[in-house]
Amino acid sequence: MTVGRVSDRVYCLSYDDKDLDLFESLWPLPLGVSYNSYIIFGDEKTILLDTVPQRFSERFIEDLKGLVDLKSIDFLVSHHLEHDHSGSILALLREAVNCKILCSPFAVNLHKAFFNLSENMVKSVNDGMSMDIGGDTLTFHLTPWLHWPDTMMSFLNLEGVLFSCDAFGSFGALNGKLFDNEVDLNIYLDEAKRYFSNIVVGYREHVIKAVEKLSSLGLNFKIIAPSHGPIYKFNPRLIVDKYVSWSKPEFEVKVVLIYGSMYGHTKMLAEAIDMGVESTGVRVASFDASRVNVSFILKEVLDAPVLAFGTPTYDANVFPTILNVLDFIEVKKLGAGRYASIFGCYGWGPSAYSILMGRLKSMGFNLVEPFLTVRGAPSPSDLDNAKKFGVKIGELALKFKK
Ligand SMILES: Cc1cc2nc3c(=O)[nH]c(=O)nc-3n(C[C@H](O)[C@H](O)[C@H](O)COP(=O)(O)O)c2cc1C
Repeated sequence: MTVGRVSDRVYCLSYDDKDLDLFESLWPLPLGVSYNSYIIFGDEKTILLDTVPQRFSERFIEDLKGLVDLKSIDFLVSHHLEHDHSGSILALLREAVNCKILCSPFAVNLHKAFFNLSENMVKSVNDGMSMDIGGDTLTFHLTPWLHWPDTMMSFLNLEGVLFSCDAFGSFGALNGKLFDNEVDLNIYLDEAKRYFSNIVVGYREHVIKAVEKLSSLGLNFKIIAPSHGPIYKFNPRLIVDKYVSWSKPEFEVKVVLIYGSMYGHTKMLAEAIDMGVESTGVRVASFDASRVNVSFILKEVLDAPVLAFGTPTYDANVFPTILNVLDFIEVKKLGAGRYASIFGCYGWGPSAYSILMGRLKSMGFNLVEPFLTVRGAPSPSDLDNAKKFGVKIGELALKFKK
């Protein structure tokens, strides 16, 4: 646990989680993740912003006691009910007996449904409502669908701290650090991109809306304080600009190959295609979907203008691990605006390819034909064709050069 002073009135309690294998039981955490809770000491009111997962409750309550008499906490601002932020609410309320919860109107019923909290415990705040805390004001901004309907942010006006909850967050434990100028930002921006492309991307139009809304209000934010990952104090604009660019998205000149292969035939095609793309000078990100978690694949798909999917026919269908990746790409709405082609090997019936073509079309991909399908083992001339296929999609990606 790390406690740090964020500004004159704001402290952060940050907890590293290096034990959890999969965030949301989906996304691997090779570098862990942090849960950040904040406390604001106004002259008249003491306000806690979000808590931490339940398994950190005991430590969280003890650490909080080192900072504040729990009975003096007036409000808990619950920006988003998901359990990584709300998991210690009940433990808190047992001791912080004067504390009421403030949340978005949508979240009121969620607090009832998940924590059985009565109406007199949970108060909703309206968009733009401000609270005088003594010496500063805290304003609540509803920013729905980042990434639940309940999400909101709050802004401490004089100190310029934006508490953004999941928005502008990243994977990666903080290892005793808190601020952007204390960590290797390349690592955290990479993990922020993965966090964005796994969790936020399906709601990216709401990122743009939220940033436009906050900008139109002329908020002079000096510090971005998210619930996961580093606090951006040195360069707060950086993470906002990154989130906006990932939301558009701004394409990189590259090709992503995603394939499944049981006995290596489709893989042979993938490797020859890879060589063809590279010969055009375009970067290739190639994934064996059976061996790489979809979390890392989505991160590359996010800003890829051109993809190619490789599959054997398997039980008259597309290979299961490719179907899994397609499901995620569909749910995250990452098809439209991109080009996709198809390659693979089959034994007796090429039915996988018409099924895959239908899926890609329905997801909004522009199809690049002809596809490259081979019955049996690829011959030298098939591999030569695969290289040419790679050159073609590499040249297509080059059209996205700015
Ligand atoms: C369990 C299983 C199911 C298969 N189902 C089909 C099928 O429905 N149609 C077909 O043409 N080939 C089928 N095949 C054959 C494969 O598509 C073929 O062996 C292909 O070359 C495998 O490519 P890979 O080496 O990239 O895995 C199947 C193979 C296996 C092991």
